[in-house]
Amino acid sequence: MKKRILQNGRLLPALETALAEEYDLHPLWREPEPAAYLRQHGASFDGLVTSAPVGADAALLQALPNLKIISSFGVGFDKLDLDMARERKIRVGYTPNVLNDCVADLAFGMMIDIARGIAAADRFVRRGDWLNAKFPIATRISGKRLGIVGLGRIGQAIARRAGGFDMEIAYTNLQPVEGFSYRHEPSLAGLAAWADFLVVSVAGGAQTRHLISRDVLAALGQKGFLINVSRGTVVDEEALVDALVGKTIAGAALDVFANEPHVPARLLECDNVLVLPHIASGTAETRAAMADLVLSNLRAHFSGKELVTPLV
Ligand code: DGY
Repeated sequence: MKKRILQNGRLLPALETALAEEYDLHPLWREPEPAAYLRQHGASFDGLVTSAPVGADAALLQALPNLKIISSFGVGFDKLDLDMARERKIRVGYTPNVLNDCVADLAFGMMIDIARGIAAADRFVRRGDWLNAKFPIATRISGKRLGIVGLGRIGQAIARRAGGFDMEIAYTNLQPVEGFSYRHEPSLAGLAAWADFLVVSVAGGAQTRHLISRDVLAALGQKGFLINVSRGTVVDEEALVDALVGKTIAGAALDVFANEPHVPARLLECDNVLVLPHIASGTAETRAAMADLVLSNLRAHFSGKELVTPLV
């Protein structure tokens, strides 16, 4: 008999098809009354598939008393109740590593864009402004100072790319990371004050909430740029909007927001900001690799093996 898997939120169509072939898959997002459905059928599910932006909260896990495995599409785990998963010995798989390159590529693209004004220049040409004016002089990237907030797998991939641009690199992390010659800066405000570009690549969640505070933005200063490919919650968004509107920082390139898909209206009025719809891992190649890991983790669990990429 096929294992019963509950699907929380939409997934890639190809992944949904593959899951439906192997499992008795039930998409919770199609239910008009999810809570009522769970009350009646929650005990029948062996597994749950979800994604980093959707996660699985305590209420959902409580409604699934026989759950043994969560397989999540994505590397972020800020929306997964891991404490409850540990307590109930529910295994949790996620999809790290396969997205490092694409997230780092986009972080670099965002940095070049916001410093050189690529999207703003494109708007300038399309508006016909080039016929009457010159596009403002921009900021150089090569040889500048890159501050990386969080030298994990994605932060390291960003640092490797920065080498190709002859950038000086320093980072903050909970602990200095062994095996790298980059300078560890213990103070985040110190890193911001030193950096021309501050890239945020830490995990989201309660521990990193508003890490990029009003004070850190003040330290980054009028010539500094912020790039965020982590989670919107890591930045004090109100302070960031004030800094962009007041031009107390030079600009920001953001792939993530505190309340996605909603972007503060004041931010949209600023020309010194690049806003993207959380697309850092969004290439066909990377998303296919992530989908493979979601399936591999489920298969490993149901055949009694260690998960391929366990989180819990
Ligand atoms: C991730 O995998 O966590 C990406 O940010 C998509 O949410």
